[in-house]
Amino acid sequence: MKPYIHINFACSIDGKIALEGGRPYKFSNLEDLQRVHRLRSEVDAILVGKNTINNDDPKLVVNPKYYSSDKVPDAVVLDSRLQIKESARVFDYNRKVILITGSDINFNNFKNKRAEVLVKRCDSPRPGVDCIVKILGDLEYKKILVEGGKSVITSFLESQFWDEISIFYSPVFVGDKGVSMLDSMITVKNVTLNTVTSLGNGFLVTIKR
Ligand SMILES: NC(=O)c1ccc[n+]([C@@H]2O[C@H](COP(=O)([O-])OP(=O)(O)OC[C@H]3O[C@@H](n4cnc5c(N)ncnc54)[C@H](OP(=O)(O)O)[C@@H]3O)[C@@H](O)[C@H]2O)c1
Repeated sequence: MKPYIHINFACSIDGKIALEGGRPYKFSNLEDLQRVHRLRSEVDAILVGKNTINNDDPKLVVNPKYYSSDKVPDAVVLDSRLQIKESARVFDYNRKVILITGSDINFNNFKNKRAEVLVKRCDSPRPGVDCIVKILGDLEYKKILVEGGKSVITSFLESQFWDEISIFYSPVFVGDKGVSMLDSMITVKNVTLNTVTSLGNGFLVTIKR
């Protein structure tokens, strides 16, 4: 069965998710971090692209500073040619890390990690969202949180496989040199619920299908 796909990210008022050259910036305020870490505690796995791992080195866990939970969600990284850094902090926890690759890889050298690393290969050079969703469904994941970055958000929005989008807007402008949230124009269809709510000094946009 297809898992529920929730896309979540934070950006500036002008829709940038990172600074010039992809430098990360903490757009989320305390209230948003509390929301995101509660959300992480409710999903089976958090999915990101290889660049987010290699640039930002996120742990992709529930931080007790923001939300108290024993849950360690699994992590899913889209990485066509297995270029993830072996030192990435995502491997430092007792959980599964699923590396979804394209067809052009033939080795798996991720041993001696605290995490159990599973390499799942798709039939195209870059994994398509239909293949990714099938793999996650076969693993019996029910709920996936897609956290970025730009290329991954674009792929999921283009695919129409998503169920919910949450975007936190921080009261900051980044300007033209920042990294935009999307690669291209996408029209969101069949929306059943659209809300905008204040969250501390920012606001949260929720779109559901
Ligand atoms: N503000 C936020 O909430 C937030 C959250 C996360 C990240 N970010 C920012 O986002 C930036 C990174 O974004 P990014 O676009 O460069 O990288 P990304 O989305 O993290 O990763 C993209 C890479 O994943 C691989 N990939 C494999 N299959 C894919 C598929 N089906 N669709 C898309 N990508 C696929 C591709 O590389 P290969 O084909 O070579 O494998 C692709 O270049 C960083 O600056 C980070 O700080 C911001």
